[in-house]
Formats: sequence, C-alpha cells, structure tokens
Amino acid sequence: MKGVILAGGLGTRLFPLTKITNKHLLPVYDRPMIYYPIQTLVNAGVTDIMIVTGGRKSGDFLSLLGNGSDFGLKHINYTYQQGEGGIAEALGLCEHWAAGESVCVVLGDNLIERNINKAVADFRAQTDSSGKGGAKILLKQVHDPERFGVAELDGDNVARIVEKPKQPKSDLAVIGIYMYDARVFEVIKTLEPSERGELEITDVNNWYIQDASMTYEVLEGWWTDAGTFDSLLRASELVAKGGANRVD
Ligand code: G1P
Repeated sequence: MKGVILAGGLGTRLFPLTKITNKHLLPVYDRPMIYYPIQTLVNAGVTDIMIVTGGRKSGDFLSLLGNGSDFGLKHINYTYQQGEGGIAEALGLCEHWAAGESVCVVLGDNLIERNINKAVADFRAQTDSSGKGGAKILLKQVHDPERFGVAELDGDNVARIVEKPKQPKSDLAVIGIYMYDARVFEVIKTLEPSERGELEITDVNNWYIQDASMTYEVLEGWWTDAGTFDSLLRASELVAKGGANRVD
C-alpha cells in the first residue's frame, strides 16, 4: 500500500497566517504541521509516500522535507495541485504513481494521538487476491460534527456520509485518514464539483458505501484537524500535553 498526504489548498480559514505560506508548513507545537501526517504513515509501515502540494510556497516542502531523512525515509515523491479543486481531485493526481496499488490517504492537517496500525492491517486483510479491497474510513466522536463529514451507521455498516450537515444525525466525524483500493481513481473521474466547487472525498466514500465495500473503525486516542484558529491552537495544546503519533 502506498501513502498519500494532501497538503494543497489556500488555507483561507487561517488567513492571514496563510497569506504568504502554506497551511501545512505552520507550526503545531514543536514542528511543522506536515510532520505529523508523515509520521502517521511511517509508523503504520507505509513508507512509499506522495505529497500533493499546491498554493503558496509549495517549493518550501522540498526545502523542509528533502528525501525524508527526518523520518528514516530514503525518498519522498511530490506533485502539485493547481487551484482548489478539492481533496478528491488532489488524490486523482496520484493515479499513475499509485500504479494499481491501494492507497492510504492522510489529510495534511490531521493529527492523531496514537496510530492507525490496526486499521491498516485490517484493510490489508479485507483485500482479496484480485486486489479488490474496497475502502476503510476512521471515525471519531466529536462535539461539533457540523464541521466535518458525518457518518450515519446501520449496525456494523456505514449507511451514509453527509458533508458538513446543518443538523447532524450522529456525532461521528469522518476523520481525514482514508484507505482505498485502486478503483478509487476511476470513481474520482465520475465526480461532479460540489456547491463549494470541489471534488468531495465524501462523494468517493459514498460510492464505496453504495458498492457495499466500505468498512469503518473508531479511532482510539485523540484526533484533531488544524485548519481553523481554534483547532490549530487545540492541536498545539494536545501535542504539548502528551505528544502525537504514540506507538505504544
Ligand atoms: C475535510 C472533509 C471532511 C472531513 C475533514 C476531516 O473537510 O471534507 O469530510 O471530515 O476533512 O478533517 P475540510 O477540511 O476540507 O473542510
């Protein structure tokens, strides 16, 4: 399985912090935001990584990360997303690089306290010999579900995901860590832009739900995004208190 980190966009919710730089280069406690999603993948044994950058100062990722020696990597791949076409469009740029393998996608502003090792192992186990593995998402209970994609469950299955619902039917946010088989790239080609003009990852996830090949797990430990002033502060506080990406 290959790893994809999405670190494009203009970070408008953090303006003017993002007036001259990319959101994912901003500090979260003692390191740049992008360090955390890279560590999440590396800790899960996913070491063939593509970073999709975009917007302002995209060249700074190369200066900061190089070939990934801070993470024990020998090489990192980079690609560039023009404009703000959304998470699914950014993932679509990785089709040729993924070359038929499944992918674990992590949003560049998502931090976790612990690790995703069990979810990655379970996703690998749900892949059949033809490579058809469906998808897996991770969920977390939150007090402000209207800010996220929200999952409605039906027993052991996800019945539906609604992107930023005004009246959420559950408090289970879909966190920004997703696993897909290689069909994801064909799915992305069928998407239409949403009201915010983006190709939505939630539409990809709902396709897999319709295909009856979506599984989910509830993440252990804390999770936060860092794309708003409040969540950026919260992320720094959580890391300062106990650290992120714990492997124990
Ligand atoms: C995105 C996804 C949303 C998900 C969130 C997690 O939201 O669209 O479904 O819950 O990431 O961080 P965005 O940050 O693009 O508004």
